[in-house]
Amino acid sequence: MTRILIVDDEASTLASLSRAFRLAGYDAVVCDSAARAIDLLRHERFDLVFSDVVMPGQDGLAMLAELRDIGVATPVIMISGQATIDMAVRSTRLGAVDFLEKPVSSDKLLLTVENALRLTRLEEENRQLRRRVGRHDIVWKSEAMRRVLAQVDRVAASETRVCILGETGTGKELVARALHERSPRHDRPFVTVNCAAVPSELIESELFGHEKGAFTGAAARHLGKFEQAHGGTLFLDEIGDMPAAMQAKLLRLLQEGELERIGGERPIPVNARVLVATHHDLESLVRKSSFREDLYHRVFVFPILMPPLRERLDDVPLLADHFAALVADQNGWKPRGFTPAAVEQLLAYSWPGNVRELRNIVERVLLLTDGAVDGATVRQVLSGRQLASGPAAGSGPLADRVAAFEREVVLAELNAHGHRVAETARALGIERSHLYKKCQQLAIDMKAERK
Ligand SMILES: Nc1ncnc2c1ncn2[C@@H]1O[C@H](COP(=O)(O)OP(=O)(O)OP(=O)(O)O)[C@@H](O)[C@H]1O
Ligand SMILES: [Mg+2]
Repeated sequence: MTRILIVDDEASTLASLSRAFRLAGYDAVVCDSAARAIDLLRHERFDLVFSDVVMPGQDGLAMLAELRDIGVATPVIMISGQATIDMAVRSTRLGAVDFLEKPVSSDKLLLTVENALRLTRLEEENRQLRRRVGRHDIVWKSEAMRRVLAQVDRVAASETRVCILGETGTGKELVARALHERSPRHDRPFVTVNCAAVPSELIESELFGHEKGAFTGAAARHLGKFEQAHGGTLFLDEIGDMPAAMQAKLLRLLQEGELERIGGERPIPVNARVLVATHHDLESLVRKSSFREDLYHRVFVFPILMPPLRERLDDVPLLADHFAALVADQNGWKPRGFTPAAVEQLLAYSWPGNVRELRNIVERVLLLTDGAVDGATVRQVLSGRQLASGPAAGSGPLADRVAAFEREVVLAELNAHGHRVAETARALGIERSHLYKKCQQLAIDMKAERK
């Protein structure tokens, strides 16, 4: 229930205002001095304050100033029997949302309350929107990205299945999310499954869910991702890595529009728009028979190809600024820019890990500098990307220096492969199990960039 605090030294005003508010269905609390009001506002939640200006002791304007000083942001409306222009101006400057002259008709009073509440709601929504936009904002300027986003707009409104293709770290997931946000399903859930990250024996339960007791350890019913995405969008990331048995089940689901939970006895209708992504060349997987051709035709309806970063260098300076702002914000640092020489270094690099790699580089560069980022620091970090800090760098026992070098190499390779274990292990010429052990030894968080 909306709670309104009324502050006035006159008992008759307190009585008439509180009666009008209560009749309109609000909860009204009265208080006869500014000091007591401040105390109440410190300890209790109110949605709105109505305050007299002229009162013995602290007046209403001084109260407003003190509330802002101590960080109480509840909207305040001033109300006065001796209103002057100067008073109205001062109260607006202090952040009062409105200024009323006594006597106030109850119609005017209630209208003022509604307006003030609407304004606060809007401000709160805007704040949340800004927060959300920051992380999932797509930053671009290049013609290549303009074409991608035009395609997103073209298919967003339909139910067409979209397949997002592109190298690691090019922004496939971001584009999938944007497609959902721009679709009629935007206020329903967006659910992601990374098919490469779920162990093959768990993937059916992850996608379709299971009934209680369906297998050892199934202590309760579990809703699969398809059901969690009901009414919304299910993003099947890395679909090229889906195990063969699951491919067959997914095909049946897409043909029939129904699924069965493991251990379930009846089919459940599915209403989730399916988007898929892969960094593999799906056609060559089909030729090698590791991806079913019939499933390929079901999911590969409208392809969107994410251009690698090296083919849209126009975006690099914008992305660098964007990530610098994000990283600064996350760490509570002052925002910082890049010198022209630093930007030149970024443009000259080949970006095998694409946007994700750029993001990591920006973070490391910011850690190394205080003021604006200069060319030398970027060069240092970029060459370190290929050569780590050089086996000769640093000081201390040989074992520590070797470990530090090893850590850089493994981290760089993980980043270049979007933290995909199988590929990283292959690139380093070691077994997956060996890579797991190495990461443990070297205190590397393998999942760092993966959610
Ligand atoms: N155009 C862009 N604007 C802002 N941020 C971006 C952009 N493209 C990618 N990013 C950011 O870069 C990172 C990698 O993007 P994303 O996870 O979408 O790539 P991906 O193609 O799915 O990679 P992978 O194949 O490795 O899964 C994310 O942090 C994402 O927010
Ligand atoms: Mg991805």
